[in-house]
Amino acid sequence: MDEPAVQSLDEKAAWFLRDPLAHSHPYPFFAELRAQAPVFRMSSGAWMISKFDDVDTVLRDPRWSLRKALEGTIDEMVDSDSVAEIFGAGLKNDAPTHTRLRRLVSRSFTPRRVATWQSLIESVISELLDAAAEKGTFDIVQDYALPIPQRMICEMLGVPFDERDQFKAWSSAVTNRQFDGNTGDGRRVLTQAMEDFASYLRQLINGRRSTPGDDLLTELLAVGEVSETLSEIEIVALLIELIGAGTETTFNLIANTTWLLVSNPDELRKARTDPAMMALAIEESLRLEPPAHYPFPRMTTETTQLRGQTIMAGDLVFPLLSSANRDEDRYINPDAFIIDRADKGHISFASGPHFCLGAGLARVEGAAAVGSLFQRFPDLRLTDPEMKWRPHFRAHGPSEMNAAIS
Ligand code: HEM
Repeated sequence: MDEPAVQSLDEKAAWFLRDPLAHSHPYPFFAELRAQAPVFRMSSGAWMISKFDDVDTVLRDPRWSLRKALEGTIDEMVDSDSVAEIFGAGLKNDAPTHTRLRRLVSRSFTPRRVATWQSLIESVISELLDAAAEKGTFDIVQDYALPIPQRMICEMLGVPFDERDQFKAWSSAVTNRQFDGNTGDGRRVLTQAMEDFASYLRQLINGRRSTPGDDLLTELLAVGEVSETLSEIEIVALLIELIGAGTETTFNLIANTTWLLVSNPDELRKARTDPAMMALAIEESLRLEPPAHYPFPRMTTETTQLRGQTIMAGDLVFPLLSSANRDEDRYINPDAFIIDRADKGHISFASGPHFCLGAGLARVEGAAAVGSLFQRFPDLRLTDPEMKWRPHFRAHGPSEMNAAIS
């Protein structure tokens, strides 16, 4: 959706934060911000940071606290102390709590560990492609991109087959609400979903304690038992974070990359030449149309200077990842989709201590999903004339994307 005919940057900033349709195409507004006020103070007192180097600085510098920003918003999101406690128990913390948890859970996301999931990813993909081939036409979002991370997380955690539909319903509720700016009814729905999901995860944990499996949950429990520094509530919080952070983002990556490649036939031809080029297409898609425009906001813990502006202690800051990714001082021709561009790189997985834990997994899932789709259906066509972006507060991807394969 185009930005409204409002005049000031402040009105446009409020539009971006409050209108879920704004997330489909906020780039002209971001370009204005970078040109006129790269470190911009809104009338609410919060800041928008839009240049690559500044976004990177904010995310790397421990003085910009994620935990403090969370404390300011947690009561707006949920209305139960026990659920608030879960929100506060995971990786949305600062050092030293964050460092301890991150070190423990990172062991399950090393490149070597991710490589062990490759054949699982391929079998999930091939099953979904078989089903699509039978249908002839299918929705790339609902029938392909979304089930891939959903099925992966169920397999990784060892969720029993007959519990998967309920698991997916809770995970969607938690994921969507987490991203959706929760007020009123949303707050009650998120609280209930979190309570139900947490109680299910506790049962899953107890089951795995008595019968260990060959899965991520058993690994996390073993870490907890060996180190005695990972409590049950932390494991529940970590599981909810992994599910929330890994599903929405990955399916948007798959769908957005498919759309960009179909819309840029020369780049699709390049991407098809070999898997390394497909991996580059994934990176360029992450840069140009990232699955989320910004991460969790940060809060300054001390008064700080940034690009000549004084940001007071306690101010809320939005580091705009997708604006940074189109910064004219960092990229030549930043709005173009060029998979083998010389000035590679992006900040869509954030940077610094909270750099995406699942980046390696997302890259492998994304490249396998998009690569196999075009390999299996070389004549794949999108039947909708335009991209149908889903109205959303944080996530950036389509609500549906219909395809024909013959
Ligand atoms: C294309 C897909 C993905 C994108 C674009 C993405 C993006 C991000 C971003 C921007 C952050 C930083 C949040 C912040 O600083 O506030 C983050 C953190 C995180 N991501 Fe991802 N993510 C993706 C996939 C995944 C997957 C597949 C998983 C795991 C299954 C995952 C797990 C996490 C976790 C646990 C964190 C928190 C890390 C920490 O706070 O230390 N992500 N992700």
